[in-house]
Amino acid sequence: MTGQTIDYMNEYCAHTHTCGQLRLPDAGTEVVLTGWVWHNRDHGGLIFVDLRDRAGYTQCVFDPDCVSMDDFAKAEHLGREWVVKVRGTVRARMEEAVNPNMATGEVEVLASAIAVLNPSATPPFSIEDGIETDEATRMKWRYLDIRRPEMMESLRLRHTVAQAMRSALNARGFLEVETPILTKSTPEGARDYIVPSRPNPGKFYALPQSPQLLKQMLMVAGVERYYQIARCFRDEDLRADRQPEFTQVDIEMSFVGQDEVMALMEDAMAEVFAAAGASHTFPLPRMEYAESMERFGNDHPDTRFGMELVTLTDIVRDCGFKVFSAVAQSGGAVKAVNARGAGDWSRGDIEKLADIAAENGAKGMAWIAFTSDGQEKSPIVKFFSDEEYRALKEAVDAQPGDLVLFAADTPEVANAVLSALRLHMADALGVERAGHALLWVVNFPMFKYDEAEKRYAAEHHPFTRMPDGDIDKIEEAPLECGSYSYDLVMDGYEIGGGTIRIHEAELQRRVLKRIGLGDDEVNEKFGYLIEALSLGAPPHGGIALGLDRLVMLLAQKDSIRDVIAFPKTSSGSCPMTGAPDTVSARQLKEVNLGLR
Ligand code: AMO
Ligand code: AMP
Repeated sequence: MTGQTIDYMNEYCAHTHTCGQLRLPDAGTEVVLTGWVWHNRDHGGLIFVDLRDRAGYTQCVFDPDCVSMDDFAKAEHLGREWVVKVRGTVRARMEEAVNPNMATGEVEVLASAIAVLNPSATPPFSIEDGIETDEATRMKWRYLDIRRPEMMESLRLRHTVAQAMRSALNARGFLEVETPILTKSTPEGARDYIVPSRPNPGKFYALPQSPQLLKQMLMVAGVERYYQIARCFRDEDLRADRQPEFTQVDIEMSFVGQDEVMALMEDAMAEVFAAAGASHTFPLPRMEYAESMERFGNDHPDTRFGMELVTLTDIVRDCGFKVFSAVAQSGGAVKAVNARGAGDWSRGDIEKLADIAAENGAKGMAWIAFTSDGQEKSPIVKFFSDEEYRALKEAVDAQPGDLVLFAADTPEVANAVLSALRLHMADALGVERAGHALLWVVNFPMFKYDEAEKRYAAEHHPFTRMPDGDIDKIEEAPLECGSYSYDLVMDGYEIGGGTIRIHEAELQRRVLKRIGLGDDEVNEKFGYLIEALSLGAPPHGGIALGLDRLVMLLAQKDSIRDVIAFPKTSSGSCPMTGAPDTVSARQLKEVNLGLR
């Protein structure tokens, strides 16, 4: 061994410590830090620079007595986000200078040398947490946005969650298998992204909406326990919790029933929560789909607060308010939500809520306000008999200070309206929704009737198995056909969904026909699946977890965009790269396409 010393100030040489690492016991150590100039200030001849990297930040002090004139001049002229390397000695800060809000706040580095590795133009927005810069700007300069500590923290949390998930599955005998991105349509209810094939004029790949059918093929192949952190592509309207490409932790198992899949998921989630420093009690409660719709109006209930929906259909069946009695007598539902604390809202503010109701399909929004001084205001009370009114008040547990909002419509519309109003009112009233609430919603119906398309559709997807006792209902009473299905719900979001699959070729064919596919279409689109099921398919089932949504909730963010390195805008574009973009006439010609 030659005793060669490393020249840490060499331009391309690494640091000795990160900017988040130094503590009091390091005092006296000579260190080299690299990072970005975050804040810099000149304090009567001393220059203070907060040097930031992905791990944190450290205060560096330039004293003209301790660095060369040259280096002091460099420190004087540093700009924001310049990339520098600083050598110096760690020292304890004076007591009054200790910053308890800063991980490295007990120390600072007294610089002995500085090298500028790269100056920077002035950044278009400031690299700070909690900025109000519009999101398009943040996305155009995403690499600057990610320098903000809260963004870096989200990426780190995402990494932690993905690794914990991998290690939980690895420990339980799962094999990570990649499936193709250029593939054939796998329907999950959205539009496909399609890619033309150059050697096959007129033919297209579809990007996978999920690896659903491919993971089923792996079960037929005998893989038995599969997972993949899989990218999925869905051309659908975007929202805060939806991106055109997103990530699933996709899981499939053979020789299992739904209890085994759910137990596996709970074990993995317990490990993920522990790794992420979050807490929750496992096993998780289960709620029937029907109960969730009845009490919360949707299949992904936020159970962290009350304000549950109340069904009043029987009470108002014969009442004098024709809207309610007509709906009740024609098989519809009359339901209400009691927004405790809004009873003194002005008529104008209450009527504005009707817009939210209308957005969700309501034809009107009746209400009763019980003011805190004991009065009752309402456009509809006059229509009720004393007895009806008493029963209604009892059903919603009316108290002074309450605002009761009504929806009378088909059960689907009434539920959609009131679930939206419930969440809106909880926000408006600042109802506490702390901590996390996880639960399973189970036993979805197998089919729903699609009014727009005038046909039956699968409630989950058409590869879902129903209990044996329901198989006969496929043709005769599809809406009564249950299914082995389970959604994982967290804080009011669907973070995962899965089912036990059909493993019998003939049964699969029947279900596909029930949702309106002809024999030819079944063969053309799903022939390979049905053939595989006839060649020794084991019983199997699985689940897919929306990784973006899970991380969003653990990071306490409002949008999955905040936990995705390079997300897309609501119009599906990337302001940084400019995707999607035009292509040349030659590229189009090569794939046999012309633009209209
Ligand atoms: P599903 O369609 O329910 O099931 O998707 C599983 C989970 O993925 C998340 N998710 C999304 N996240 C962000 N943006 C989107 N556009 C988006 N769409 C869905 C949700 C959802 O719970 N193949 C089945 C799973 C299975 O049966 O095993 C599937 O894809 O959190
Ligand atoms: P109207 O008699 O039409 O003026 O309605 C009286 C009240 O009932 C108004 O507040 C309407 O918004 C409300 N209303 C009308 N239709 C419905 C409905 N389908 N569900 C709930 N409220 C309704």
